Amino acid sequence: MDRITLPPGEPIPMTTRRTRWQQAGQSGNFGKRFAELIAAGEDVDGEARLADTLLRRGARVLDAGAGMGRVTAALLRQGHDVVAIEPDEALVRQARETYPGLPIEERDILGLRPDDGPFDLVVCVGNVLIFLAEGTERRALGAMRDVLGENGRILVGFHLQDPPPHARNYTPAEFEADLTAAGLRVDLRAGTYQLHPANDAYGVWILSRA
Ligand SMILES: C[S@@+](CC[C@H](N)C(=O)[O-])C[C@H]1O[C@@H](n2cnc3c(N)ncnc32)[C@H](O)[C@@H]1O
Repeated sequence: MDRITLPPGEPIPMTTRRTRWQQAGQSGNFGKRFAELIAAGEDVDGEARLADTLLRRGARVLDAGAGMGRVTAALLRQGHDVVAIEPDEALVRQARETYPGLPIEERDILGLRPDDGPFDLVVCVGNVLIFLAEGTERRALGAMRDVLGENGRILVGFHLQDPPPHARNYTPAEFEADLTAAGLRVDLRAGTYQLHPANDAYGVWILSRA
């Protein structure tokens, strides 16, 4: 269902806008692909390894837009205190089936409240930022900033070229304008989760409060 019925002239509340992910209707394919990769013993922990290097032991982490829970599961194995949020009901179900006991809530980044924090790290990887609902990027970045603890950071990563169907094209200049407007600053930009140099294909950023 694509339409939200509201009285004429009523602005659509930001939190009820459909995300680009919902418009793509890809959660089944995405979930299946990761289930197959995990069953085949493939490495799906690259993002979590970088996240872990940024953290003291036993840190508090939010996995924002956690999908089927692979990053959360890897960080839990490293002994961190992790909470996952994911608005796609099918992926939440898959996460609970794949990783019994995984702490995942069916929630949207836009619904975060400051008292959900403080977190040492918010992980927002795997194209989450290019699948947000249109026009909600600054609010989402601000909501993640507001749950950071002192010296807390945000790890972000998304495709800069050839984004998946229905994902937006988000240039580094647009992204950096939005994060600045949201009260964040860039601590580091790289091109991969192994910290290769920044490139035009993929963007990895480490952010903190401005
Ligand atoms: C390609 S999946 C990546 C999932 C996971 N981060 C990973 O790397 O495995 C993109 C995810 O962004 C999520 N997403 C999009 N908009 C969101 C929002 N406003 N709040 C939370 N998650 C959102 C989608 O529901 C989807 O699970």
